[in-house]
Amino acid sequence: MSLERTLTVRVERISRETPEILAFELSHPWGRALPVYEAGAHIDVHMPGGFSRQYSLARWPGAPSNTPSNTPSNAPSYVIGVKREVASRGGSASMHERVREGDLIAISTPRNTFPLREEAAHHLLMAGGIGMTPLLAMAQALAARGASFTLCVFARSEAHLAFAGALRDPALAPHLRLHLDQGDASQRIDLQALLADRAPDTHLYVCGPGGFMKAVRDAAAKTDWPEDALHTEYFAAPTDANTTTGLPFTLKLAQRGITVPVAADQTAVDALHEVGIDIPVSCQQGLCGTCVVEGDGEGAEHRDFCLTGTERRSKVALCCSRAKGLELVLQL
Ligand code: FES
Repeated sequence: MSLERTLTVRVERISRETPEILAFELSHPWGRALPVYEAGAHIDVHMPGGFSRQYSLARWPGAPSNTPSNTPSNAPSYVIGVKREVASRGGSASMHERVREGDLIAISTPRNTFPLREEAAHHLLMAGGIGMTPLLAMAQALAARGASFTLCVFARSEAHLAFAGALRDPALAPHLRLHLDQGDASQRIDLQALLADRAPDTHLYVCGPGGFMKAVRDAAAKTDWPEDALHTEYFAAPTDANTTTGLPFTLKLAQRGITVPVAADQTAVDALHEVGIDIPVSCQQGLCGTCVVEGDGEGAEHRDFCLTGTERRSKVALCCSRAKGLELVLQL
């Protein structure tokens, strides 16, 4: 169950970005501003057919196409990109086939689990396909503040390049590296060489399809990229990930002074729900961070895809992670 605040928005404009990707611009039904958000944020979209999916916001509120400002206080509209997945379980197909301009749809307020890190001296943004959406907003925010960054965009061809118009913004051009699988071989990016040749305190942000994420993570591992400087935004848990079952264990709730058993076929969230403690959830796959609570992270078998190495010492994503041993202590 998600405890996010829900907004009703109008689908202001639908535009085709690539053969597979549509951009949806969402605005307030009565023309008011929408809540502001940070680059990297996403919303839950509740769509026809009862589906709910998360989509990153593809434009930073201070970007030139909005009201130019380095400290925007609201957003005139939200833009999301939706790729029609061949193996769609209904979500992307619903957006592509059933949502039309002028429709009213429900969304959550923006939430950011993929923020820019203030401590970074340089930001390396790696976008694969539709994974461009959060990273485009991040690039716009970094350009506006004059930060040091590189935006690497990987796509099959020019025709498959989403938000190409935004990428042509002169503020982004000096920072952009484009890798087209079907393009000029001399412009292709050697991932391992790129990651090996890094300036001190570079933070790496990655978003894209599963194969792309794996390729970047493998290259990062081969170049000893520091775990705390690697930030990922997954669309879905990798197909071989088990986020729901495991050995039984006990949750020890330090603040309440009680214990709660978690069965082998239960998640910690389910077990807590049974005793009347509702933890907010959204993705339920370890991706979004909604269910993260403070606890003995050292004693957890972490199965999420959203916490950094440092965060995992004191936080646990309860929709998927379990105890390493028989007991997991939480600050609940
Ligand atoms: S609900 Fe998304 S990480 Fe747990």
